[in-house]
Amino acid sequence: VILTQDELKKIAAYKAVEFVQSGMVLGLGTGSTAKHAVDRIGQLLIQGKLKNIIGIPTSKKTHEQAVSLGIPLSDLDSHPVVDLAIDGADEVDPYMNLVKGRGGSLLREKMIESACKKFVVIVDESKLVQHLGGSGLAMPVEIVPFCWKFSAQRLELLFKESGCVAKLRTYSENGEPFVTDNGNYIIDLYLKKDIGDLKAASDAILRLPGVVEHGMFLGMATTVIVAGELGVRVKSK
Ligand code: A5P
Repeated sequence: VILTQDELKKIAAYKAVEFVQSGMVLGLGTGSTAKHAVDRIGQLLIQGKLKNIIGIPTSKKTHEQAVSLGIPLSDLDSHPVVDLAIDGADEVDPYMNLVKGRGGSLLREKMIESACKKFVVIVDESKLVQHLGGSGLAMPVEIVPFCWKFSAQRLELLFKESGCVAKLRTYSENGEPFVTDNGNYIIDLYLKKDIGDLKAASDAILRLPGVVEHGMFLGMATTVIVAGELGVRVKSK
């Protein structure tokens, strides 16, 4: 049987939900993989197999989904310590560093996932890479809208040696700038060569005044669950 990519995402998501216990404060991820995990948590609550869960959604979209499933919700102001977060990723390297944010939710994801005791990442095997940003896909950076062209230029210059091209993310329907849940814009960095020292790259991006956050999640994941044709693998720190 050949499984579809969505079936693999669901397998990884269901496996991650096995880590959830009653009474936990849970970070609820965003994206097509995390969606399956949130659905499953809702299902187990209805069946009474999980009790007293408090969800902290990482986006407006996940907030809506969780409300529709009847999952009790809160936020970091009221629950600054999160027991466990489950979320997808766009890229995962061999050291469990991630690229996230191709769905645009990187800022809330990073705030919540850095407040977690455990952060379980769920992916199908197509997300595994040797080097972050080396796959020719976007490395997202959330910036304030004020003088976004200036910020885009500064980002491009920062990674000139990696052949960086910085593009403002837009809605495909009307070409208008994509606006994040926090009212910001996203600059997608496209690199011809990998970015080199990830920590140095992260620090350099965050030093630019117009930048709010970037999509590299370094040293944050405590477990990665990968679903592939040959089964599901669980890798923990
Ligand atoms: C949302 O901004 C992202 O960080 C998602 O977690 C990431 O894009 C993974 O999404 P998929 O599970 O849909 O691939």
